[in-house]
Amino acid sequence: MATLALVRTLQLILFNCLLAAGESVASQALPGCKDECGNLSIPYPFGMTPGCYLNESFLITCNTSVNPHRPQLVNGNLEVTSVTLEGQVEILHYVAKDCYNRNGTTADRNFPQLRTAMFTISNDRNKFIAVGCDTKAQIWAEREHNNNTYFTGCMAYCEKTDALHLNDSCSGVGCCQVSIPSGLKNLNMSVSSYYNHTRVWDFNPCSYAFVVDESKFSFSDKSFGELAHKEFLPMALDWAIGNEPCNVSEHKPDYACKRSSICYNPENRSGYLCKCKDGYNGNPYHPDGCEDIDECKDSSLHNCISERNCFNTPGSYKCFCTKGFYGDGEKDRKGCMRNQANVIKISIVIGLCVLVVIVGSSWLFFINKKRKLLNMKKKFFKQNGGLLLQQELHEQRVSTETVKIFTAEALKNATKNYDESQIIGKGGFGTVYKGILKNGTEVAIKKSKVVDQSQIKQFINEVIILTQINHRNVVKLLGCCLETEVPLLVYELVSNGTLSKHIHCEDKAFSISWGIRLRIATESAQVLSYLHSAASIPIIHRDVKPTNILLDDNYTAKVSDFGASRLVPMDQTQLSTMVQGTLGYLDPEYLCTAQLTEKSDVYSFGVVLVELLTGKTAHSFEGPEEERNLANHFVLWLKNDRLFEILDNKVAKEGAVEQIKEVAKLAKKCLNVKGEERPSMKEVAQVLEDVRRLRCEHPWAEVAVN
Ligand SMILES: *[C@@H]1O[C@H](CO)[C@@H](O)[C@H](O)[C@H]1NC(C)=O
Ligand SMILES: *[C@@H]1O[C@H](CO)[C@@H](O)[C@H](O)[C@H]1NC(C)=O
Ligand SMILES: *[C@@H]1O[C@H](CO)[C@@H](O)[C@H](O)[C@H]1NC(C)=O
Ligand SMILES: *[C@@H]1O[C@H](CO)[C@@H](O)[C@H](O)[C@H]1NC(C)=O
Ligand SMILES: *[C@@H]1O[C@H](CO)[C@@H](O)[C@H](O)[C@H]1NC(C)=O
Ligand SMILES: *[C@@H]1O[C@H](CO)[C@@H](O)[C@H](O)[C@H]1NC(C)=O
Ligand SMILES: *[C@@H]1O[C@H](CO)[C@@H](O)[C@H](O)[C@H]1NC(C)=O
Ligand SMILES: *[C@@H]1O[C@H](CO)[C@@H](O)[C@H](O)[C@H]1NC(C)=O
Ligand SMILES: *[C@@H]1O[C@H](CO)[C@@H](O)[C@H](O)[C@H]1NC(C)=O
Ligand SMILES: *[C@@H]1O[C@H](CO)[C@@H](O)[C@H](O)[C@H]1NC(C)=O
Repeated sequence: MATLALVRTLQLILFNCLLAAGESVASQALPGCKDECGNLSIPYPFGMTPGCYLNESFLITCNTSVNPHRPQLVNGNLEVTSVTLEGQVEILHYVAKDCYNRNGTTADRNFPQLRTAMFTISNDRNKFIAVGCDTKAQIWAEREHNNNTYFTGCMAYCEKTDALHLNDSCSGVGCCQVSIPSGLKNLNMSVSSYYNHTRVWDFNPCSYAFVVDESKFSFSDKSFGELAHKEFLPMALDWAIGNEPCNVSEHKPDYACKRSSICYNPENRSGYLCKCKDGYNGNPYHPDGCEDIDECKDSSLHNCISERNCFNTPGSYKCFCTKGFYGDGEKDRKGCMRNQANVIKISIVIGLCVLVVIVGSSWLFFINKKRKLLNMKKKFFKQNGGLLLQQELHEQRVSTETVKIFTAEALKNATKNYDESQIIGKGGFGTVYKGILKNGTEVAIKKSKVVDQSQIKQFINEVIILTQINHRNVVKLLGCCLETEVPLLVYELVSNGTLSKHIHCEDKAFSISWGIRLRIATESAQVLSYLHSAASIPIIHRDVKPTNILLDDNYTAKVSDFGASRLVPMDQTQLSTMVQGTLGYLDPEYLCTAQLTEKSDVYSFGVVLVELLTGKTAHSFEGPEEERNLANHFVLWLKNDRLFEILDNKVAKEGAVEQIKEVAKLAKKCLNVKGEERPSMKEVAQVLEDVRRLRCEHPWAEVAVN
């Protein structure tokens, strides 16, 4: 739980960090708005598309038909070269020219105008400058606060001797300049001459006039030549929001200064501007407002001893002395002094705390994990009917010695964690692993398929019945394990494999002899007879077949796999169930009526007898239709008196005629279509025992040859 919470917290912190990082690199434009045109970044309140600017006055259009794209102010299509949030925009504006031919006629002349909407011409950055040696220049404009026309200008005259020794200053010789007042807008310019440049034409055929950003233009004797090729020069414009000061605007609904910003009135202009509070940066006009600066991250922004002694606060930071130091940490770098004794004391305390926390949390973690595992085991135990089993065992007074409940751990160790190499059998029922218990006992561990909840009681009963069957020819159930998702059953290990392996083997020379076959048949019949009648509650095995008859080293039969078996309550002789069994061994009557009786086992046992006689498999997918089912095939041949032809070679060689005939006759009875007419298992066992006692010397093969 604690670790989970910690992970959550870390995730949250990480997420917030990413978010913060995303924001700090985010554009200064509104979300979803383009913020660049060419290489100019355009912050809000300016914008290029509807919804991205504060209002039309702040619209900058991006002319995408030129490369690089050119940002321009709508009125006049003037290129914008910079936009600042401190209330200025820089544009390129026309140079006014007045040029003459040698004979004094006008060659080229223009009268630039500027419509500035809510912009005013920056008076502190710009100057009105005229250049030429026969020059008079005028500027008209409106003043923002009263719409009055403003008019000024300057003139410059020089002769060739002066022009060759021009100082690098605009001081009236070849160049004149005037300052402009604040709040000018809607500007007209004109430049003209006194003598149509006739006197100076050979070194100065033109006059020029322009309003220019002072810092971007410096006059020199080269200016005459350079200006001949210049159509535009940079000019700075001022902007502000609205035309009322802060104290009025801040109460209005469209107040533009957002979170953590303050309003200020630009000098000598109307309207207001916003800026981030100290300790914040970002775009004060952006709906998200300004962001706190983490001063601690940048040593030039704080004066604490180190970043570790610095604590960022909204808009500011605080210095503190780290543990082991004392003093007035807030003051400056010398504020904190080392306290040796404290260092040791405090580090010991911290160390101990950390140790306690680590030990404690890992202990908790361990306990928690263990409890979870235990809970899961308990759940499986319950789900698999463990409680029921315990109760039953208690009631039936079955000692824990006869049925042992194994732990999941023990079986896992016994099978090397269910290693593939330990598998000794696989089938519809599940997988059987070989295992060696701690005490050295070899066991077979059957991992069932998932048990149907409704069958749990049956499963439990079977486990109990099996522990009660103490028959030397039944595979002994040693115990079970219910702590795992699927129940595990632990049996004694029967070393020599299944009967099927021994009668259907490829190399007939290794197949078992007639005598042993007869003994196995007798033993199996006795077991079934016992199950049907001698056991405390009759049990129908339901899946009698050679693969379920195991052999030990002495070829003693051990009947196994009671997975499908059913208990028949005392007062009932038949029981309806879902038809279940193995193809080739299924009682045809049961198949039709779904009424399960002991006689179904008799039928299956008849098939086993036929297999013992013929060495053929109960059902094959090859050969002619009538030969696929061994039982039918056998009955047919017997009827035609052709038994000898389908006998297993070994049986024919070793078995006495009387014995074989008797067994064949018995098999035929068992395979009777009508269950009622089949002998009981007890009778079958008796017949087989009698057959074994027959003392006959002559094997069939010899008789046949003779
Ligand atoms: C824009 O790009 C041009 C050339 O590509 C460069 O001279 C100019 O300084 C750039 N302007 C800005 C604001 O980056
Ligand atoms: C874009 O610039 C080109 C070239 O200067 C000009 O011809 C065109 O009119 C401009 N377009 C807009 C929409 O201003
Ligand atoms: C003056 O010179 C220009 C070209 O230099 C010429 O086109 C024009 O006709 C001339 N005018 C007179 C009155 O000579
Ligand atoms: C200058 O040129 C204008 C027309 O171009 C002409 O009317 C005027 O007389 C000229 N002045 C002198 C002094 O040549
Ligand atoms: C500038 O010129 C235009 C027409 O050329 C005129 O309408 C406007 O009033 C002039 N502006 C000023 C301030 O004189
Ligand atoms: C200036 O003129 C504009 C439009 O011509 C008008 O809206 C504004 O009120 C005038 N300002 C003053 C101070 O007269
Ligand atoms: C150039 O500047 C010097 C002083 O800096 C001054 O003495 C001189 O008269 C100036 N010459 C012209 C042509 O203005
Ligand atoms: C733009 O907004 C400002 C302040 O919000 C306002 O004073 C001005 O009249 C508006 N201009 C237009 C064209 O809407
Ligand atoms: C705003 O402040 C100015 C002085 O800065 C003052 O003259 C004016 O009355 C104030 N207006 C309001 C609405 O407070
Ligand atoms: C504002 O106007 C006053 C008086 O006109 C002037 O002294 C001051 O320099 C101006 N400030 C700016 C930034 O132009």
